[in-house]
Amino acid sequence: MEKAIVAYFSASGVTAKVAERLARVSGAELFEIKPEQPYTEKDLNWTNPVARCNREKIGRKDVPIKDRIEDFDGCGVIFVGFPIWYYSAPNIIVTFLKSYDFTGKKVALFATSGGSDIGRTAEKIRPLISGSVDIVASKLFKPADGDDVLAEWAESIA
Ligand SMILES: Cc1cc2nc3c(=O)[nH]c(=O)nc-3n(C[C@H](O)[C@H](O)[C@H](O)COP(=O)(O)O)c2cc1C
Repeated sequence: MEKAIVAYFSASGVTAKVAERLARVSGAELFEIKPEQPYTEKDLNWTNPVARCNREKIGRKDVPIKDRIEDFDGCGVIFVGFPIWYYSAPNIIVTFLKSYDFTGKKVALFATSGGSDIGRTAEKIRPLISGSVDIVASKLFKPADGDDVLAEWAESIA
């Protein structure tokens, strides 16, 4: 298998757990996509129209990211994980995908959610990304999905 990285954003830890297991079963490196300004509970309260999450969504704002992946060039497969926000990927994922040159690399999206599917997320975010990002797969995982399910998916891509 080509060298792989599991890069993930997780606001409340659910996607982080799946990402950690995916990295373990696939032998990939793990990288947390962290916002420069961490999200507080208030920031994530989507029932408040002026909460940060809603302002970012409506304003289509980029979300500045702390740290970069060190050996990005040496890696062929990037698994990108996130929670579903507003039936799509959080803006920080678009910022992440705009921050590197993915030419010649495979990108596979995975997500967790409160019930929505990952559906057309790849199609929705593609027009927002400058540069060529080849999204080869998208998969929603449930926290109860076993390591065997994660491993099988990783193998189908790498
Ligand atoms: C701002 C915001 C928007 C969300 N939008 C959706 C949604 O559209 N559909 C859904 O099923 N869950 C939605 N959720 C719930 C998260 O996708 C779900 O709780 C996820 O597993 C959290 O992952 P995390 O702990 O890695 O952040 C939303 C959560 C937040 C904070």
